[in-house]
Order: sequence, then structure tokens, then C-alpha cells
Amino acid sequence: MKNFISLFVFICLAFQIKVVYADYALLQKNNCLACHYIDKRKYGPKLNEVALRYANDTNAKEKLAKKIKSGGSGVWGEDIMPPQPHVSNEDAIALAKYILSLK
Ligand code: HEC
Repeated sequence: MKNFISLFVFICLAFQIKVVYADYALLQKNNCLACHYIDKRKYGPKLNEVALRYANDTNAKEKLAKKIKSGGSGVWGEDIMPPQPHVSNEDAIALAKYILSLK
């Protein structure tokens, strides 16, 4: 029984690790890391700060997915995020969801 529980816990952990890495790979694949780090300021805002800012915003996922594709400025300062037309709609939603989970 004890072994069974250990195995179950191990599978859950392994699955979680895989999910986290898959999402991080999306940041790499879509070239977001050129301007954003998760916990350090680069050209764009820290992604964990983005998560905190929208923690209580129920429309945040759709709003950020749209911004990820079309870019913009004025929320975090004067720097401009250029449009990212190479990001698919599916990736934009997955990225928004992942970024919001980073708080
Ligand atoms: C050329 C640099 C650059 C690239 C590439 C870039 N960003 Fe940004 N990003 C910025 C800047 C600058 C801002 C701040 C814009 C503002 O103040 O409104 C920003 C803001 C954001 C925000 C916060 C939006 C808001 O309104 O609060 C998110 C989320 C984000 N970027 C995600 C991404 C993702 C995901 C990618 C990859 C597909 C990406 N960015 C690629 C520069 C970049």
C-alpha cells in the first residue's frame, strides 16, 4: 500500500513537471524570452509581476492573449511590445494561462 502511494505521488509530480516545462518551451518557441524573463526585468515586464497585476481580473486570460498577439504599450511604461503575428491563437491562450499562473 505504501509503495502504491509513493508511485501515485511520483506520477503526479512527474506530470506536473512535464506541464511546467511544456509551457516554458512555448515561451522559447515564440521568442518571448528575447524581451521577458519570469523573475527579472528585461526589456518587457517580469512575467511573475504580470501575473500579480491581473490576479483579480477575471477577463485577464482573454485580454492578455489578445495583447500577446497584437502588442501595445502604456501599461508598464513607454516601451512598446511589437505585434507577434507568428503566435497561433492556441499558443496565445496557453501562454496567457501559463503567465497568469506564475504569481
Ligand atoms: C520586442 C520585445 C518583446 C517581445 C518579443 C515580447 N514582448 Fe511582451 N512586452 C514587451 C513590452 C515592452 C511590454 C510592456 C507593454 C506595455 O507597457 O503595455 C510587454 C508586455 C507583455 C505582457 C503584459 C501585457 C499587459 O497589458 O499588461 C505580456 C503578458 C507579454 N508581454 C507577453 C509576451 C509573450 C507571451 C511574448 C511572446 C509571444 C512576448 N510578450 C514577446 C516586450 C516584448
